[in-house]
Order: sequence, then C-alpha cells, then structure tokens
Amino acid sequence: MKTPAAATITPLFVTEIYRADLSGEAGFEAFIEEIDDTCRAFADDDDAGHDWCEKNAYPGYTSYGSMSNLTQYAPVFAVLKKQLDAHVHAFAEVLEYDLGGKKLKLDNIWINILEPGGFHSGHIHPHSVISGTFYVAVPDKASALKFEDPRLMGFMNAPPRKTPHRRDHEIFAYEAPAAGTILMWESWLRHEVTMNQSDDVRISVSFNYGF
Ligand SMILES: [Fe+2]
Repeated sequence: MKTPAAATITPLFVTEIYRADLSGEAGFEAFIEEIDDTCRAFADDDDAGHDWCEKNAYPGYTSYGSMSNLTQYAPVFAVLKKQLDAHVHAFAEVLEYDLGGKKLKLDNIWINILEPGGFHSGHIHPHSVISGTFYVAVPDKASALKFEDPRLMGFMNAPPRKTPHRRDHEIFAYEAPAAGTILMWESWLRHEVTMNQSDDVRISVSFNYGF
C-alpha cells in the first residue's frame, strides 16, 4: 500500500554504520601481506596472550589481554592507525559530535585470529566513543558482523516485519567484510561476531577511540 499523498515519513534516532575499503589504495597488496604476516607472527610468540585467551575461553588468539597498543610493537600498525585516524575523524563529522575542537584518540588496538567454529557473542565496548575493526583475512564463509537494534528491549508488542523488508527496518543487521574493509560504529551499539564457518582462520584488528 502507498503512503497517502498528504503524509510525510521522518526517520528519527538513526543508527549509523561506517564502512570503508582500503583494497583499492596504492600499495594495498604489500600492506595487507605485511599486516597478515605480523598478526600471525605475534600470535606465534605471544605466550601471555595465549594464557589470556585460555582463561577467557577465546576461540583462537587475541592480543586484547596482552598487547592492546599494537602501534608500539610494529610499524605496520602505525601505518594502519594513520588510516584509521582519518576515517574516525570523518565518521565523527558525520555523527556531528561536538568535540570542542579536540579529536577522538586511539585508546586500544588489538589482533583477533578467530579459529574455524569460533564466534564472539553480543557485546558493547564500554568507555569508548567509536569502535571498529579492520579486516585482514576473511576466507569464504568466515563470520559476518551482526549488529542489534539498540531499541530491541523496548519493542514489546511490535509485530514482526514482512519478508522481505527494508534494510533500515532490520532488527539484526549483518555486514560481511572482506580483506581491506574498515567497519566502525558507535561503541554503545551491541554487536557480535557470528560463527566462522570457513576452514581457515579469520584475522582482524579491532580498535577503540575515546574522547
Ligand atoms: Fe566488539
């Protein structure tokens, strides 16, 4: 059914997801290879990281508990940070944050290597403003990122949507990344990493920016 001609529809309380792709940039092949090698090398050597993963039942390897300031450990992460800074500042503009002339600052950046069958259940990133992930290796059937409508708890008697329905009417929305994709969202937005259904590891670098 069409909307009556005299009516207007106003989208309010919009949740914005930022997506960018570095794969078209000059030198990308060498860059992604170096970052892939570096992530795997860190995973091989980081005993404290593996202890943390075991204690926290992480399905694979993350440097979150051992090295969450990667830019100090390898120059390739400083190169990545430069790219991320520009994208975060662009996103902050889109979101119309009033930062009083200051800029959001990288607080943590860490490696995730998700094993086949691994997943990361729903969570938010407290104490941060913008969070996101840069994707390094995404084999076929590796996990998408799943976002949850932040109003979910308030829906109560709202009927389900028709099939198909508009993407901005999703309650759970999926973004499937590829190597070189940057995804970012406001840190309060609940998200989860669905199960890695490929036979290979999925490698990513996640980050938090704060104020
Ligand atoms: Fe997350």
